[in-house]
Amino acid sequence: MDVSARFADFAHREAYGNSERYDTWCRAIAADHDLCARIAALPSHKQQPNLVLAATRYLGVVEVPPAEFLGWLRSNWDDICREVLARSTQTNEPGRTAAILPLLAQIEGPIALIEVGASAGLCLYPDRYSHVYDDKVRLDPAAGPSTVVTRCTTTGDVPIPTVLPQIVSRSGVDLNPLDVADLDHMRWLHALIWPGQIERDERLDAAAAIARADPPMLVRGDLNERIEGLVDAVPDGVTAVVQHTAVLAYLDMAGRDRFFGQMSRLNARWISFEGRGVFPQIDRTIPERTQHQENRFVLALDGRARAFATAHGQRLHWL
Ligand SMILES: C[S@@+](CC[C@H](N)C(=O)[O-])C[C@H]1O[C@@H](n2cnc3c(N)ncnc32)[C@H](O)[C@@H]1O
Repeated sequence: MDVSARFADFAHREAYGNSERYDTWCRAIAADHDLCARIAALPSHKQQPNLVLAATRYLGVVEVPPAEFLGWLRSNWDDICREVLARSTQTNEPGRTAAILPLLAQIEGPIALIEVGASAGLCLYPDRYSHVYDDKVRLDPAAGPSTVVTRCTTTGDVPIPTVLPQIVSRSGVDLNPLDVADLDHMRWLHALIWPGQIERDERLDAAAAIARADPPMLVRGDLNERIEGLVDAVPDGVTAVVQHTAVLAYLDMAGRDRFFGQMSRLNARWISFEGRGVFPQIDRTIPERTQHQENRFVLALDGRARAFATAHGQRLHWL
């Protein structure tokens, strides 16, 4: 897909209905030959609309109409390139814990939760957040309602948990672990949230405060290199649970196959939350004729698909 098609596709499939500003900005970029050529000169993995747009937000672009935005891009192009080359899409969305929780709660604890591609580790605290399903079922941590509230609408027979899991340790790996105590990292995490999504901005700050009070143990490295060591470090009597959300798409097929093989071999339960098509092995376990166009993420336990979901865990459809 060329740059113009990529930005038009992002506007149509991702931004439309979620962020009017990103929708109109991406359409404007897609129609501008000069800017498309500039973006095409970046390394291909740096041409992601989400990354380019986050760099503009990090640099303080204000929410201007599309024509003005294109002018701003041209005037600030060198700074944008610098940020795009130095950073990557590390969106850390605590809302995804709502989708994972029905599986996590089925696993006997105590649990050592291990996340690959953890970013700042904010998906490692499902037991510290409050969760509301279908606007009527609410789960709160034992200590009382949390400052972080996830909201999820369900269809199908979702096993909505009645108690939160007992998580005794939180660890993870990332190519570039972010630190919620670092102001610049927080600024980048906020830049990755789309314009107008104030609820997500507030939730990010609330989740970061929880993580700052009890930080996860995050190591730097490639998930395929580090996963075995993280699982092996879990003591007897504790169930290792490896989770990942919106991560494996960043690996090539050989890397994904290697990880799939490791998860089949390691002594750990495995929760996968990835876009459809990321793991053909998992997609093959989706019952035939199952159609759920809107929910493009597949939630799986130990390699078997259990649900479809929207990317940020707002909607969950049980298979
Ligand atoms: C889109 S973010 C998702 C973060 C978090 N899982 C969430 O859902 O909020 C993807 C993360 O995966 C990390 N990542 C990508 N490839 C990786 C690899 N090979 N090994 C470790 N981390 C990786 C990135 O650095 C980034 O932080």
